[in-house]
Amino acid sequence: MTRYFSEDTSEQAVIARLENCDDPRFRTVMEGAIKHLHAFVKEVEPTLDEWMAAIEFLTKTGQICDDKRQEWILASDTLGVSMLVDAINHRKPHGATENTVLGPFHVAGAPELQMGDDICRDGIGEPCVVRGVVADEDGNPISGAELDVWQTNGEGFYDVQQPTEQPQMNLRGKFRTGSDGAFWFKTVKPVPYPVPTDGPVGQLLEAMGRHPYRPAHIHFIVSATGFEQVTTHVFVDGDPYLESDAVFGVKDSLVLPFEQDGDAWSVTFNIGLAKAA
Ligand SMILES: [Fe+2]
Repeated sequence: MTRYFSEDTSEQAVIARLENCDDPRFRTVMEGAIKHLHAFVKEVEPTLDEWMAAIEFLTKTGQICDDKRQEWILASDTLGVSMLVDAINHRKPHGATENTVLGPFHVAGAPELQMGDDICRDGIGEPCVVRGVVADEDGNPISGAELDVWQTNGEGFYDVQQPTEQPQMNLRGKFRTGSDGAFWFKTVKPVPYPVPTDGPVGQLLEAMGRHPYRPAHIHFIVSATGFEQVTTHVFVDGDPYLESDAVFGVKDSLVLPFEQDGDAWSVTFNIGLAKAA
């Protein structure tokens, strides 16, 4: 083995330089990254032009990010990495609602609302009532659970994507359960929408021959003292994009029937929380 860098031993040459890294976890992470990155390059054998195209993709992905646009999360989501990291970190016990991706459109500080309030402030979309009970793994209702919910309007856009067209905090709200663990709120029926396609990730999807759509869903973060927080969605059964979600977020247990109930749609989403470790 040469003392210097060679094609055959490239990853070993780079990993050897970690000898003075004194953070064992970081060392494990970097060893894995270097090993797999070198293996990828050896498998694909990129031309110099292809490697430069990759560098340009990464550069543009960073440059388009700001406090409202997170193209890196979108890259991670559309390559299935967000769902994989999520799955590894949320192996839930039976009776607990499954996690799915947070996505790039959560906004902290949604208004605290009363049960039964309407989160839709622009009136665009078909009226829908969402109800359910937050319970522990054994089905006992949880009092004081907080639900942070958000979704697109009836045209498939989040408020932050249309800051001049939608009211601030449109289709966002927080609700807190009482002693029966029950919640309900009014909204509009969610619709499928494309992830943003005007940046480098959109170009990447197109080059891969993929569509950018997500099936209709409502986002939830549910937390309660003494329980593990769950970040999840409820999906609309029958949606045409359930099996080809651009970010791989669908799980069987999260797909529920939305039924016509008078002039409104209605869905019941019961949420189970695992006890905190
Ligand atoms: Fe979403």
